[in-house]
Amino acid sequence: MNKQPVHVWAVTNPSTLESIKGVTRSNYGAPVLLVVGCRPADAWVRRYDAKNGAEVDAAIVSTYLMLAAENEGLATLWVGSFDPAGLAELLPGTEGYELVAMINVGYPSEESAPSAKHGTRIPMGEFVTRVD
Ligand SMILES: Cc1cc2nc3c(=O)[nH]c(=O)nc-3n(C[C@H](O)[C@H](O)[C@H](O)COP(=O)(O)O)c2cc1C
Repeated sequence: MNKQPVHVWAVTNPSTLESIKGVTRSNYGAPVLLVVGCRPADAWVRRYDAKNGAEVDAAIVSTYLMLAAENEGLATLWVGSFDPAGLAELLPGTEGYELVAMINVGYPSEESAPSAKHGTRIPMGEFVTRVD
């Protein structure tokens, strides 16, 4: 349906970045925060069970933003742990939006390294069910 119910707030303003530190404990000093939100009122709704697709669309946008940034040689980190009402107050035009993700974008510090769990995956047979 191409309804595009997703909006991105690209935050670089130093005082807004400082204020955002008050609505999340996940602060990494990134100079750019891409806040991804969706507007359920604008989204496709599945007729069979009335499932609203806005959040799925926001997750797709967020993921591709991360891949595009990585492709430019930047690093990203998805933050979902924030106070959504508090974050919405710091950004313009958020009425009717559900804020889904705050993507930190920047250059990783020298000492930053993937956590021990970075490469851990559940077994493929548990992840995928073959239906032959
Ligand atoms: C949906 C989602 C929400 C997340 N929220 C946070 C968060 O609020 N704070 C945080 O420090 N990491 C959060 N993370 C984890 C990081 O984005 C990242 O996945 C983690 O540091 C591990 O890095 P790796 O995926 O490169 O191994 C979240 C990840 C996902 C997928």
